[in-house]
Amino acid sequence: MSSMAGKQVVLGVTGGIAAYKSAELLRLLVRDGAHVQVVLTRAAAQFVGPRTYQALSGRRVAMETDAVSVEPGGMDHIALAHWADVVLVAPATADFMARLAHGLAGDLLSSLCLALEKPLALAPAMNRAMWEHPATRANLALLRERGAAVFGPEDGAQACGDQGPGRMLEVAELRRCLESLFHTGVLRSVPVLVSAGPTREALDPVRYLGNYSSGRMGYAVAGAALEAGAQVTLISGPVSLETPAGARCVSVRSAAEMRDAVLAVAPVHRIFFSVAAVSDYRCDTPAPRKIRKEEHEVLQLRLIRNPDILAEVSGIPEAPFTVGFAAETEGLLEHARAKLLAKGLDLIVANPVGGAEYGFGRRHGDLTLLWEGGSLVLGRDRKELMARRLVREVARRYLERETADAAPAH
Ligand SMILES: Cc1cc2nc3c(=O)[nH]c(=O)nc-3n(C[C@H](O)[C@H](O)[C@H](O)COP(=O)(O)O)c2cc1C
Repeated sequence: MSSMAGKQVVLGVTGGIAAYKSAELLRLLVRDGAHVQVVLTRAAAQFVGPRTYQALSGRRVAMETDAVSVEPGGMDHIALAHWADVVLVAPATADFMARLAHGLAGDLLSSLCLALEKPLALAPAMNRAMWEHPATRANLALLRERGAAVFGPEDGAQACGDQGPGRMLEVAELRRCLESLFHTGVLRSVPVLVSAGPTREALDPVRYLGNYSSGRMGYAVAGAALEAGAQVTLISGPVSLETPAGARCVSVRSAAEMRDAVLAVAPVHRIFFSVAAVSDYRCDTPAPRKIRKEEHEVLQLRLIRNPDILAEVSGIPEAPFTVGFAAETEGLLEHARAKLLAKGLDLIVANPVGGAEYGFGRRHGDLTLLWEGGSLVLGRDRKELMARRLVREVARRYLERETADAAPAH
């Protein structure tokens, strides 16, 4: 799975010849699983029409000339600035960058960028002389200084017949650059272990005890750890999700298999995110053949407790920095804090489940981080975003601990 999967991208297209390449870029991003909203300037629509982008993105294209907004509230510039994880303007004309550098907001794409509090990336494309003009240089320097990422341009033959800098980067390169924006590198080369998904406890050869975990949160944590530069091992129960690109994935079924897989590799990992919803119980003696309903009016199952994988990991010598998840339907913070202390964890994530909006099987999560002596509300949002916030916090605390451990004793 590409790390762009699930990302919400606004692709701004401005009026340059290279606009024809932005349609191909859109196709690549959609193929990666990104949700892409295209915004065209008036000039851009003269180069490639909105229908091409609409067909490729599966969304109505936002244009300032439209009487109809793509967002129900009619405030496309604000709604899209909130919706986007990132805005990429490709191609970005000299005129557009000048407007942006000076805070002009007279059109939809410029006003959206002015309202944006997320990363902004520009892929300039223009004639060599326009690119080298001191006005363009100064505008670009201002935009860079304010945090815009600038991808390219490159040197080469230009549509106008000139030769020199100003060609928009090739789309495969732009896609790589965009992906790298999400790569923070805070956990570069740190081995991180993530368990995810449900477990299945056999009742007979065809039936099992399970739970509603979709694995989405664990996979999002694995993805966020990869973005942070970690070497990720993902131990996953049965889910229908694609493995994040770059993760080593071990598939398991039961809690016992999950335990064996986790304990086999935990000692060589420095952080353990225990996100899997591991069954607390398993059937004492699964039937060797299919249980037949004709044979039982009432069927009694005897369940026995499964080992506590999380407590076992936190108990190994030189245990990894251990982060548990407490999925609870009530008494969330009390149960989470009790679990934190009982299992000797470094952190625990309180995660309400069983509701209509958040938790198991849902796309959104509502997370609070707890540690001995404190807590932090991470908030409610899509699981990919929550995972990034969580990984950032965990990385900070893990690195603090590593630094403290490495400091010479006085
Ligand atoms: C045929 C043609 C090609 C153009 N190509 C570019 C270009 O590659 N880069 C650029 O900065 N401007 C280019 N322009 C000029 C822009 O279209 C013009 O500055 C326009 O106002 C940009 O509007 P926008 O930034 O709102 O899209 C071109 C104009 C024409 C007529």
